[in-house]
Amino acid sequence: MIKERIEELRRLLRQHNHNYYVLNAPTVSDREFDRLMAELATLETEHPEYDDPDSPTHRVGSDLTEGFEQVRHIFPMLSLANTYSIDEVDSWFGRVSEGLYGQKFDIVGELKFDGSGISLIYERGRLVRAVTRGDGGVGDDVTANVRTIRSIPTVLNGDDYPDFFEMRGEIVMPWSAFERLNAERAAAGEPPFANPRNAAAGTLKLRSAAEVSRRGLDAYLYYLLGDNLPCDNHFDNMMAARRWGFKVSDAMTLLHSLSEVDEFIARWDSERKDLPVATDGLVFKVNNLRQQLNLGTTSKSPRWAVAYKFAAERALTRLRFVSFDVGRTGVVTPVANLEPVLLSGTIVKRASLHNADIMHALDIHTDDMLYVEKGGEIIPKITGVELEQRPAGSQPVAFVSHCPACGTPLVRVEGEAAWVCPNSDGCFPQIAGRIEHFCGRRMMDVDGLGEESVALLVREGLVRDIADLYSLKEDELATLPGWGDRSAQRVLDGLDASKSRPFERVVYGLSIPYVGETTARRLARAAGSMERLRTMSAEELEAVEDVGPRIARAVKDYFAKPDNNRIVDTLAAAGLTMEAEMPAAVSDGTALAGKTFVISGVFALHSRDDYKAMIESAGGKCVGSVSRKTDFILAGENMGPAKLEKARSLDIPIIDENEFLAMIS
Ligand code: IVH
Repeated sequence: MIKERIEELRRLLRQHNHNYYVLNAPTVSDREFDRLMAELATLETEHPEYDDPDSPTHRVGSDLTEGFEQVRHIFPMLSLANTYSIDEVDSWFGRVSEGLYGQKFDIVGELKFDGSGISLIYERGRLVRAVTRGDGGVGDDVTANVRTIRSIPTVLNGDDYPDFFEMRGEIVMPWSAFERLNAERAAAGEPPFANPRNAAAGTLKLRSAAEVSRRGLDAYLYYLLGDNLPCDNHFDNMMAARRWGFKVSDAMTLLHSLSEVDEFIARWDSERKDLPVATDGLVFKVNNLRQQLNLGTTSKSPRWAVAYKFAAERALTRLRFVSFDVGRTGVVTPVANLEPVLLSGTIVKRASLHNADIMHALDIHTDDMLYVEKGGEIIPKITGVELEQRPAGSQPVAFVSHCPACGTPLVRVEGEAAWVCPNSDGCFPQIAGRIEHFCGRRMMDVDGLGEESVALLVREGLVRDIADLYSLKEDELATLPGWGDRSAQRVLDGLDASKSRPFERVVYGLSIPYVGETTARRLARAAGSMERLRTMSAEELEAVEDVGPRIARAVKDYFAKPDNNRIVDTLAAAGLTMEAEMPAAVSDGTALAGKTFVISGVFALHSRDDYKAMIESAGGKCVGSVSRKTDFILAGENMGPAKLEKARSLDIPIIDENEFLAMIS
């Protein structure tokens, strides 16, 4: 009875997922869908004996972190030869015709999706493995992440699919998801992804399937490989694949002549701008599989297919002036302010010039006509100057020598492209920027304190640094222009709630130069507490994963300033979290005295950083490579084969996480 209901719910949910994600035609409300999903999840928890890795409940993704295993592709993943004009496509068409000794042939026209290539292996109608392109020969096994992508079926419909086959396609991040992700990253002070391709590739390699699921990836499938395919031509095979549940683009079109190929190009050159996902061109494939075989492949790409790349969108517009933005860490970024120009459907008024070196290399002069491009990128970039249109008497634009906000002479950090305003305590955008960062969603997440309200608090003289936030009074907030009791209370509640944010987010919120979210987490876990972090030597800091001399120096410099110590003391007194939540295991600080460990592989119970922290707080030491001096190897899943062999040849004991935890408790 229960088993039947579970199966029925799985079937229903799969169908609804397919209607929603593949057909874009849902037949139930989101609410009803959630209700069915909740019922299934409850039944599965109560009856683990009926668990199935392919159940729709697993698509929300678990937070299990796994390493990526490298897998050799059964069929190497080739790339495509590129063409950039109709003429070049026409010559390819001629070569195909010649290669087929003048036989008639059809072409399939497709969109070239700009994402991350993927190989999906299906056995008996179930998804068993998903592997990235990698170097074409070997890729990363990203099955757990791919399972969260709802437009990829984990169980197929119908019964006319081969027992074993491979489906190739592209994992993409739709523009809407991409914009949302970048807005979140901007709010958190993280660098945005340059384009949906990078965002899709980065997301596929995340360790948390739950985060992958949240980011809203999508997939289009375009190439079926294997024995016993249902049809003898590509187009019909793809139509069959669509019936099995795969998302095959509606743009895929059977073309019968060169003039139809040319029409296809003309049509998509303009219509691609309205697509929900990024494309960087078109792909043309010979339809008949036997003809494909006859044409064969070169070492890099098939002769039976070719890519046609769209020209990057480019516009020419006049420079109004170059402005200089000052960030919270004092870095000064040049920005070209332009006469508004329409580019790929949006009006562009500003484009980053990145840094002084890039600006000088472009040799920008006043009133220059500049080329702005927006390829797959969302942030427009200046790619050149139209010298023919340079007005007489125009002068080179110089990088500022003084901070545009506070007038302090800028300094250049040795070996870096960035010019920095050193007046960190007296420069408005730096002061406001640090406070805004501290209140950001991934730091203290203080409701009601965004860019504008923080700027107002600073201008009104209520706060100068993050410590001042915790002595704000309700009446001084409520009487700010445009504020009232409610907004004041909201901010105070937000600040109160910030006291329960974990230690690593406090570290991230301090705005120590070069310390981003991941580094902050590593530092927090390795140090264990603010007290310890303050006093760690450069050497100890550099022992933390991914911390080099530059970051170690920045941390030392930060805590060398009395003002920063006062700020940290005030935050501690206000009740913010100043200690890392240590993994359950406890030790007296001497259990591993003098012992040297090498950590390798992926762990289930704690992160690698946690184990490192545990070893160090028990008096042990962690090193990167195996040698005679190594006492133990703490090994997780997928330990590197070279390390394993070396450890065995030196007879070094290899322990797993359970043995390790027993050892220190
Ligand atoms: S077919 C052997 N079709 O473009 C031919 N590839 O530049 C296999 N791509 O590696 C590829 N859209 O990741 C094919 N409709 C499409 C495509 C497509 C995007 C990607 C794919 C490939 C790359 C080659």
